[in-house]
Amino acid sequence: MTSCDVTSGVRQRYSKAAKHREDALCCPVDYDARYLKAIPQEVIDRDYGCGDPSRHLHEGETVLDLGCGGGKICFIASQVVGPHGRVIGVDMNDDMLELARRSAPQVARSIGYDNVEFRKGKIQDLAVDRAQIGQYLHDHPVRDEASLQALETLISEMRREHPMIADGSVDAVVSNCVLNLVDTDDKELLFDELFRVLRPGGRAVISDIVSDMAVPHHLQADPELWSGCLAGAFELEAFFEAFEQAGLIDVRLDDLQSRPWRIVEGISFRSATVIAYRPTDVAEGTGETSQCDDEERAGQSPPTQTPDRIYRGPFRYAVDDQGVMFTRGQLCRDAAAVAAARPSLADQFLSMDGSPATDNRSADSSDHPAAEAIDSPEQTASLQPNHPGQSTGRSLPTAGGGCCGDQGCC
Ligand SMILES: C[S@@+](CC[C@H](N)C(=O)[O-])C[C@H]1O[C@@H](n2cnc3c(N)ncnc32)[C@H](O)[C@@H]1O
Repeated sequence: MTSCDVTSGVRQRYSKAAKHREDALCCPVDYDARYLKAIPQEVIDRDYGCGDPSRHLHEGETVLDLGCGGGKICFIASQVVGPHGRVIGVDMNDDMLELARRSAPQVARSIGYDNVEFRKGKIQDLAVDRAQIGQYLHDHPVRDEASLQALETLISEMRREHPMIADGSVDAVVSNCVLNLVDTDDKELLFDELFRVLRPGGRAVISDIVSDMAVPHHLQADPELWSGCLAGAFELEAFFEAFEQAGLIDVRLDDLQSRPWRIVEGISFRSATVIAYRPTDVAEGTGETSQCDDEERAGQSPPTQTPDRIYRGPFRYAVDDQGVMFTRGQLCRDAAAVAAARPSLADQFLSMDGSPATDNRSADSSDHPAAEAIDSPEQTASLQPNHPGQSTGRSLPTAGGGCCGDQGCC
């Protein structure tokens, strides 16, 4: 299938699914019932999600929902972030957007404020507002080389001067059962876009269908399986790698459906929810900024505002996504203490200023480390040459110091 076939197959299927509920695309997700009361039944009926990324949102945040469909996750998110937060849903399908926009005033009336907007775009190209492009094409149809050039100029200017979703403008990117639908050739772009729009320290919470082995080409070429959220699914390992390769860190599996949603030719497809963070500027570099304290450096680096931290365990060693190795019970200071203070890791460390190491509004009580756990000296030895940022920290001083659940999915 060409990229064009993928897009038009997905567009046609979800246009129909916006008008009439398609059971084959439905997965019973256990959303928080409190938030469903304000949402029109028509939207709830056209729930084609496979998880509930809204559980990881916080009051006051700006949230972007990739492939928002009829708007259900946006309307839930709208209530979670509250009147001081903001929610933007992006979808490429006019019929889904029509349902979402038509439903928004009813939700706003019910909750008492309006903080949701819907935009037309491809999630692998979040700079381009396709509603604006559509309007332009209506007024200036492309008929010749000159009009094509004018369109290209408009798109370039849009990307450069006023992208639909600006760089670093979002606290949390969520998505529910959409990434698998994006053409294979565009998936890297999609993750790059996800990184671009997140603010440093912001996070992605993505629920999607994953497979337990690579999907062979003949299945990928089946338009029905593609638009049905199967053929374009990532293998779980490759899903993690896609986040890592885009530069996201602290990547962790929040949920994985135990019973497969579908099995096709022996390949199991199930829903997974993954959380990953855009590094903050201080942690974004390599080597220097992520290096843990050690005997040689002790006293040489300027003190930071961040209190020293100690990795609690239970693993003897853990390596984070930036290659910093933390050793159970050893003191980490300076840049590594900053790394350890990341909201996603904070629970794994004791803060040595006497207070518990949970210090950020975006710290998610259910967040646990994405660090690579190592529990044998052999594994440790084999890792050491490749991890220049590993902690050789000193020992602790003696004083001071819906997802779908198991029910099936998409
Ligand atoms: C399986 S539905 C999920 C909808 C919604 N997230 C939910 O939970 O009900 C997939 C949605 O993603 C949209 N979609 C698929 N590929 C897209 C792309 N490349 N860019 C934007 N939207 C896309 C479809 O139009 C459809 O509304």
